[in-house]
Amino acid sequence: MKIIVTGGTGQLGRAFADLSEPSNAQILCLSSREMDVTNPHQVNSVFNQVQPDVVIHAGAYTAVDAAEKEADAAFRVNVVGTRNIAAACLHYHSKLVYISTDYVFDGKYNRPYTEFDQTNPLNVYGRSKLEGEKIAARICPQLFIIRTSWLYGEGHNFVRTILRLAKEREYLTIVNDQTGSPTYTADLAQGILSLVDTHEFGTYHMSNNGQCTWYEFAKEILRLAGRSIEVKPITTAEFAMSASRPQYSVLRNYMLELTSGDYFRSWQEGLNDYINKIVK
Ligand SMILES: NC(=O)c1ccc[n+]([C@@H]2O[C@H](COP(=O)([O-])OP(=O)(O)OC[C@H]3O[C@@H](n4cnc5c(N)ncnc54)[C@H](OP(=O)(O)O)[C@@H]3O)[C@@H](O)[C@H]2O)c1
Repeated sequence: MKIIVTGGTGQLGRAFADLSEPSNAQILCLSSREMDVTNPHQVNSVFNQVQPDVVIHAGAYTAVDAAEKEADAAFRVNVVGTRNIAAACLHYHSKLVYISTDYVFDGKYNRPYTEFDQTNPLNVYGRSKLEGEKIAARICPQLFIIRTSWLYGEGHNFVRTILRLAKEREYLTIVNDQTGSPTYTADLAQGILSLVDTHEFGTYHMSNNGQCTWYEFAKEILRLAGRSIEVKPITTAEFAMSASRPQYSVLRNYMLELTSGDYFRSWQEGLNDYINKIVK
């Protein structure tokens, strides 16, 4: 099985590069230079050369706040780019895995979101990712949509930012009124890989289990890393950002529960492994 991963230099892409390759799979992680998804000619030439059985489309415009001012750039990559990948998947009979986000929801629920709940993104990034879902579904019949949340792995992320700030500052102020599920890219990559061999197409939520606020997440990062620094909870309103974010975007892995069973571990267990890898 030949697998192409777009966004191969990103956090999730690098998790695929780090996976010990299953004996029946060959995984090719591509940067935007090797395959710019907005360039249909380059996309077709790579597909023609590789003839992939599966394409994991993790490449995206991911700058949530910048997207408010750069909507064209976000839509070009997340919608037009996804259209190009989906069309090539249709032509080359490849299965498509489109990586999407908890930010397709507005966060007004007070229970975890299932795959069957109403979407209503609050920001440009979320809207572009949702349109990416729709265009992929219109074009490509062999489609897995995987929604995930609050990723950390190799690369820039909240965990590394907290550990850096803990060295630089006397105390930290962290938002305590947004709740989600931090997800370790290594767990997510493994989860996706176990699905691509099947024909069980559809939309899946895949996040580590449990929930916390950014404040609680930061406290746990510091505890596991053995750092002691005061952390003060603040509100979203006190931490001005360009893009609105859902207050509550916990994903329930409901499709997995209904099918193979939800094999995702708790966010604390994933985080413990990650901290052990990067700190100890
Ligand atoms: N980070 C999160 O918390 C989070 C949460 C939910 C869902 N997601 C989704 O999960 C996926 C992976 O996110 P991530 O955090 O791993 O992303 P990331 O670290 O921000 O990396 C983004 C990746 O997208 C690639 N990319 C950007 N423009 C591209 C283009 N025109 N053509 C091809 N590749 C392009 C970049 O490639 P180059 O570096 O080579 O330019 C980079 O590898 C994305 O689809 C994202 O929307 C992320």
